[in-house]
Amino acid sequence: MGFLLEPSSSRTSVVIMLSISWLLIFLVQSSVARVINLKWEVEYKHWSPDCIESVVMAINGTFPGPTIEATAGDTVNITLTNHLHTEGVVIHWHGITQKGTPWADGTASISQCAINAGETFVYSFTVEKAGTYFYHGHYGMQRSAGLYGSLIVREAEPLRQPFKYDGEFNLLLSDWWHQNVHRQEVDLSGVPLVFIGEPQAILINGKGQYNCSIAAHFDKSSNVCNFTEKEQCKPEILQVKPNKKYRIRIASTTALASLNFMIQGHKLEVVEADGNYVKPFLVDDLDIYSGESYSVLLNTNQGPPSGNYWISIGVRGRKPANPPTPPALAILNYYPMTPVSKHPRSAPPVHPVWDNYTHSKSFSNEIKALTGPKSKDLNYKPPPQKQDRRIVLLNTQNKIKENIKWTINNISLTLPSTPYLGAIKYGIDNAFTQESPPDHYNSPSYNIEEPPPLDTNAMYSNAVYKLPSNKVIDVILQNANMLTKEHSEIHPWHLHGHDFWVLGYGEGKFTDANETLFNTVDPPLRNTVVVYPYGWTALRFTTDNPGVWAFHCHIEPHLHMGMGVIFAEGEEEIKKMKVNKEALVCGLTGKMFMNSHRD
Ligand code: C2O
Ligand code: CU
Repeated sequence: MGFLLEPSSSRTSVVIMLSISWLLIFLVQSSVARVINLKWEVEYKHWSPDCIESVVMAINGTFPGPTIEATAGDTVNITLTNHLHTEGVVIHWHGITQKGTPWADGTASISQCAINAGETFVYSFTVEKAGTYFYHGHYGMQRSAGLYGSLIVREAEPLRQPFKYDGEFNLLLSDWWHQNVHRQEVDLSGVPLVFIGEPQAILINGKGQYNCSIAAHFDKSSNVCNFTEKEQCKPEILQVKPNKKYRIRIASTTALASLNFMIQGHKLEVVEADGNYVKPFLVDDLDIYSGESYSVLLNTNQGPPSGNYWISIGVRGRKPANPPTPPALAILNYYPMTPVSKHPRSAPPVHPVWDNYTHSKSFSNEIKALTGPKSKDLNYKPPPQKQDRRIVLLNTQNKIKENIKWTINNISLTLPSTPYLGAIKYGIDNAFTQESPPDHYNSPSYNIEEPPPLDTNAMYSNAVYKLPSNKVIDVILQNANMLTKEHSEIHPWHLHGHDFWVLGYGEGKFTDANETLFNTVDPPLRNTVVVYPYGWTALRFTTDNPGVWAFHCHIEPHLHMGMGVIFAEGEEEIKKMKVNKEALVCGLTGKMFMNSHRD
């Protein structure tokens, strides 16, 4: 099955040269938006992501799925057929805001019914903003099973881009387990809970090497690695020429791992985060959490081009297992001066220690929106100075009966069988609970440093936060101890349907007095943000996009254990909106409703 990309109309460029006293060149590009039509088939397939044969969820026979390349303003139509035999499927377009098409967000039970085995569903949406994005399964733990790929949106007007480069690379990062995902789901829901443990390999564009260091492979005296003949797990090689500038797009769709990216002997200039331009800054290494994406510029004038260099991606934020997950390695190859087989000059670079949060926080704090003259066409607006509503979300681990769950203000998220979007659109009130979840955690005296008391009234619920249109919403993510003493983890939270301003990060328990720490001048816009152990993160967004949007921890097992909330935004507008009916009516209440409302 091929990868279909059919531009239905082409772009025209007109170059007008004017010479007055200087020579002025205006590049006028009429951006005729295209329609990109893709036909995708999802199936299980044998594959060796880390050189060990396994089963992955493949699209059109490949893993990761095909890269979508589009231009801002394009419409993307994906006709998706489910060949999984006995399982439903959906695909979420991570970072795409789905303005006007909330039914195409690809979230099972939220924006649509899962596409049944044997059925076909057509996603159709506009990609509004240039940037580095990706897509992935959003039903059960299908993302962990390998259902993902890249989505790259380029500027329609190249002059808008605030930086230049001579070439680009795209690296989609993920993590891989040998245990299959259905087993992992059972383990996570079991009594006692069995955690999935640390990954067996980190993958770069779907390729990794289990139990085998490519560093050793390049050392001809040792013979431990034999991956070269396996196309599916061959390490990536980035070929560059000296004295050029390259854009490296990096996105992380890991199930669990927080990562650190570095290139031996080279500094990197960060220029984009989650599809938004940032004030450029230089780093030796950068942290990337699941759900995030960055672009960095690599200047190839930093070292002698007579050698190759390691690109290394190591795990952060979780205590390494024994044996630890080895860093993923790739090679930066100066071409043609150095043969690719030449050993990089020294051992791979060493990443910051896994629990060096000071290092991570200083990186997070350095990220600012690009403002000023260069950005005048970029439409960045600072946030409104005041919020209309503030929702504080405390995450704790709790026992509900015998099961260990993640809870947000004491509620562990469960999803209804009839998708929220359809239930709201058609006024099917009994599809989910109409009660509101709390805007704050109940006990203000809650000590985030202590393990939570075991006798809380934690419960399961599919309740939603109802957010009327055109309001300014603050969300404070409040981290705390887990059930085990002196243990608090990183959680990268991702919001569907929106970018939000990251107002700031802080230590301990958030109080309104911490508002003085907010950056309301140039906070970056993002779709994913991390909350650090025992800390808080503040974000703000405007409800300008009617739809039902998930907001959740992007760590797959955490979401599976209930770590998320649902925002039902602009209910009145949803009721009047044109939607794809096929997406919205399923489940018992949905079917009963359809039977009584034939049109
Ligand atoms: Cu990339 Cu709801 O996730
Ligand atoms: Cu989490």
